Amino acid sequence: MSKRPYNFYAGPAILPLDVMKKIQKEFLDFDGTGLSIVETSHRSKGFDTVMKQARERTKKIMNISDDYHVVFLQGGASLQFSMVAMNFMNGKKADYIHTGEWAKKAIKEGKTVGDVNIAASSEDKKFSCVPDTYNFSSDAQYVHLTSNETINGIQFQAFPDTGNVPLVADMSSDIMSRKINVNQFKMIYAGAQKNIGTSGVTLVVIHKDMVTRENAKLPTMLKYSTHIEKESLYNTPSVIGIYIVNLVLGWIVDNGGMEAIEKTNNEKAAVLYDYLDSTEFYYGLAEKQSRSKMNIVFRIKNNDLEDQFVEQAKANGFIGIKGHRSLGGLRASIYNAFPLEGVKDFISFMKDFEKKNG
Ligand SMILES: Cc1ncc(COP(=O)(O)O)c(C=O)c1O
Repeated sequence: MSKRPYNFYAGPAILPLDVMKKIQKEFLDFDGTGLSIVETSHRSKGFDTVMKQARERTKKIMNISDDYHVVFLQGGASLQFSMVAMNFMNGKKADYIHTGEWAKKAIKEGKTVGDVNIAASSEDKKFSCVPDTYNFSSDAQYVHLTSNETINGIQFQAFPDTGNVPLVADMSSDIMSRKINVNQFKMIYAGAQKNIGTSGVTLVVIHKDMVTRENAKLPTMLKYSTHIEKESLYNTPSVIGIYIVNLVLGWIVDNGGMEAIEKTNNEKAAVLYDYLDSTEFYYGLAEKQSRSKMNIVFRIKNNDLEDQFVEQAKANGFIGIKGHRSLGGLRASIYNAFPLEGVKDFISFMKDFEKKNG
């Protein structure tokens, strides 16, 4: 096979090559059974081991205490927008921090079941940063935030103190990319398809106290307690999806866990932002203090050159660099599995493009 292209897609996104090779190797014979993982029962002994390992690895990597449950659900982070609101707001009030497209979607679902207070917003700054002042309500059932906005490329560097009000975070695009203190949150959720696997699995980390507040009147599938009690096996889960998550988590552990992964992520983002800061030809959209280390959103001063840039990038082996359709411009998503070498090669390409067109 010729050299694989560098994959900058925002999600589903790049996976570690070693993980994909392992999937390929085991595909026709999972766990010595002679069956493929895609034809394996979710009640089998082999898959039971996978599920338990995925849960344990999640706890280890994120340093999660026994006060929390870890479950693997379906429906994406998008279903969590609704499930969080239906379970914990249920006709009452919740605070939401508005930071961009994904926060907006969470807010929209919140409004279908209760009273949403926008406790802070950076809309007036075109979502180029996260807010720094908050107007929390004392009677909110929870505060919801989006730790990393995948489309506009901004990320919380520190999280607000919400006192006794539970903090709930959508961490879809920066889950397990850096060390965080899980105890600051009562719930964290994330679609797996960026940093920890492929689509079809949603990780939910939820504090035991939060579960006691859930809305008992909801249909069975929409209650967290259902999935907790049945250890993510109430219905047929994405067997291959959880199997892949478990392999990626193993890769994270083998590569030094959060500390080492965060260090590399910092380095990758720093070289790219340093380059953007050093040129007049390109410019980054996020304000420095809120820059995402996962999704680097930038433009060429002469916007007309961007289509050509995307085309030439592709021809040179850099795929998925076009910005989100709602925003335009360019975006380099450099999740955990994206190598530092790929970022450096991409910068060489950018320099070359600048030389030819600047
Ligand atoms: C921050 C964030 N939240 C939520 C979602 C929606 O996730 P899903 O497609 O898994 O529902 C995405 C998808 O890209 C995202 O980036």
